[in-house]
Amino acid sequence: MALLEIVKAGDPVLKQVAEPIEKVDSKLRRLMDNMAETMYKADGVGLAAPQIGQSIRMVVIDVGDENGLLAMVNPVITHREGSAIDSEGCLSVPNVFGDVERAEKVTVEYMNRWGKKKRLAASGLLARCIQHEVDHLEGCLFIDVAKSIRQGEKK
Ligand code: CO
Repeated sequence: MALLEIVKAGDPVLKQVAEPIEKVDSKLRRLMDNMAETMYKADGVGLAAPQIGQSIRMVVIDVGDENGLLAMVNPVITHREGSAIDSEGCLSVPNVFGDVERAEKVTVEYMNRWGKKKRLAASGLLARCIQHEVDHLEGCLFIDVAKSIRQGEKK
């Protein structure tokens, strides 16, 4: 596996709408594994493909819950419920945090690393992370939607 370079805010790839993935193959799985390794090394809970310079619809997430590592190809949020405001950060926007309003619960449909269709209902941090990462695929950063932004501290 290999660490990938995380692109930072200001890079145009982060503002693009990412392309759907047509085929889940070994090349994509290798990228997925490298994204996961890069996310863990950077102490992140999620990473979207545009953040490593690839404008394709894939994200990896691990919020430290029983789901472990989730790799989602072509994720689509099919249901949103409730709302919650909490602090977020992003590996592409170092040392900046902001309060973002998100749905409290979501259902997401995606393909897993074997191209199998999956549906996952999530709440709390996992729901927040899914929405943050899917936003990346639409060229949207949390600083674009945050109610307030601050430097340096999480809370
Ligand atoms: Co992010």
